[in-house]
Amino acid sequence: MYWEQSLETLDRSSLEKLQIERLTNSLQLAVRSSHYGRCPAIGRLLDSGIKSIEQIRDLPFTTKDDLRRDFPWGFLAADKKDVVRLHSSSGTTGNPTVVYHNRHDLDSWANLMARSLYAAGVRETDVFQNICGYGLFTGGLGFQYGIEKLGCLSIPAGAGNSPRQIKLMRDFGTTVAHAIPSYLGRLFDVFKEEDLDPREDTRLHTLVIGAEPHTEEHRRRIEEMFGVRAFNSFGLSEMNGPGVAFECIEQNGLHVWEDAFVVEIIDPDTLEPVPDGEIGELVMTTLDRQAMPVIRFRTRDLTRILPGPCPCGRTHRRLDRISGRSDDMFIIKGCNVFPMQVEGILMKLPEVGDDYRIILQTIEDQDEMIVEVEVKKDWFRGDLTLLDRLQKHITHLIRDEVLVRPLIRLVEPGSIPKAEGKAVRVLDQRRK
Ligand code: COA
Ligand code: AMP
Ligand code: ZN
Repeated sequence: MYWEQSLETLDRSSLEKLQIERLTNSLQLAVRSSHYGRCPAIGRLLDSGIKSIEQIRDLPFTTKDDLRRDFPWGFLAADKKDVVRLHSSSGTTGNPTVVYHNRHDLDSWANLMARSLYAAGVRETDVFQNICGYGLFTGGLGFQYGIEKLGCLSIPAGAGNSPRQIKLMRDFGTTVAHAIPSYLGRLFDVFKEEDLDPREDTRLHTLVIGAEPHTEEHRRRIEEMFGVRAFNSFGLSEMNGPGVAFECIEQNGLHVWEDAFVVEIIDPDTLEPVPDGEIGELVMTTLDRQAMPVIRFRTRDLTRILPGPCPCGRTHRRLDRISGRSDDMFIIKGCNVFPMQVEGILMKLPEVGDDYRIILQTIEDQDEMIVEVEVKKDWFRGDLTLLDRLQKHITHLIRDEVLVRPLIRLVEPGSIPKAEGKAVRVLDQRRK
């Protein structure tokens, strides 16, 4: 039933005691970094001693901008020789955000992943196909080490090449797969093209879906298409990646592992805590990461703490599925994108006019990012070969920046509808 019963079912007061102990350790480590070394509030809290986890509110927040500003080493709290891996998040302009891990950190992360998967009913007898980007994306190696720790036969399939994904599933009898929800529509289509039905022609019983927002209805549709149960997996690079919060077999919200993270929900405008049950921005602190502790990270994800205990017996509180963001980041094909990244590229090009807009659409079951770009008058009238070249150039530049190939539409100046007041830069017309 449990991967680590004593920790997963710890009574709330012992859990808070453990959090205080671990937070004290994390802060002692954090001040070794140049970023947190400059923060007097940490010293004050350590000097007075932490008596309640709520005292974390005496510390300042950390933002994605802080991580970028102190790139590349400003948050490193360990000797470089002890660091064994870095990951970096998609979706930043300029410097990426980087997270460093030592051996302890990787082991702790793999353990959280194994615990999460076990809670969703995955067992060592399963064959687990990880259909997710490896490399710097955390969903690749993050899942990989957890799957191995749990003892499943792992298939590190990576993203893309849908016919090959299906062949792998059938050749090796995959029983569990991890993929982002929007890709599963495309995969199902390829099953149909091959005259196959995943319900009949595979041994899949479980899908792990995450890395992007999706609704309960979308989950049910995926379950129906594949004949499986699908479990929501939440994480972010700054808190390792996947393995932060995960649904158990009750499918009633995501247990957030409170022995490894402190969770706060704040009002993104006043920055004050909101009561349990109310939606606000998720703020998280690492409790078991040595090479790079991160304190009160503003995730920008909107969610709420679900009230009441879970019938599974785990005492770690549950988060509701993510309902949005308090900034303008969107996720397409599992890659995070800020409109400013696109704008930064376009505005450097002399041929490009003042306006652009990003339209997200589901085309033949695949989510696509269309970028409409107004081209200056002289260019628009100009030679078609030049326009064609410009279109290809913009496609490459954006693809290199956001890791997804956009469909570029060059349009006449003045043809993008003007919104009253603030320009609407992103139109999300994807099938939800
Ligand atoms: N996961 C897995 N495969 C995906 C995918 C996703 N999120 N999004 C698209 N694909 C597949 C496509 O179906 C296509 O394969 P197929 O034609 O055989 O079906 C192939 O990848 C290339 O698709 P295309 O639309 O041409 O890709 P792109 O150039 O716009 O984007 C990706 C390239 C998909 C490789 C890139 O967006 C990526 O790596 N996404 C995965 C990110 C990820 O795993 N995030 C989770 C982090 S925890
Ligand atoms: P990254 O740092 O690249 O791993 O991206 C992390 C972001 O992906 C989070 O902050 C969320 O916005 C989003 N995300 C991850 N998992 C989920 C999920 N299960 N539901 C909704 N959004 C998610
Ligand atoms: Zn539960």
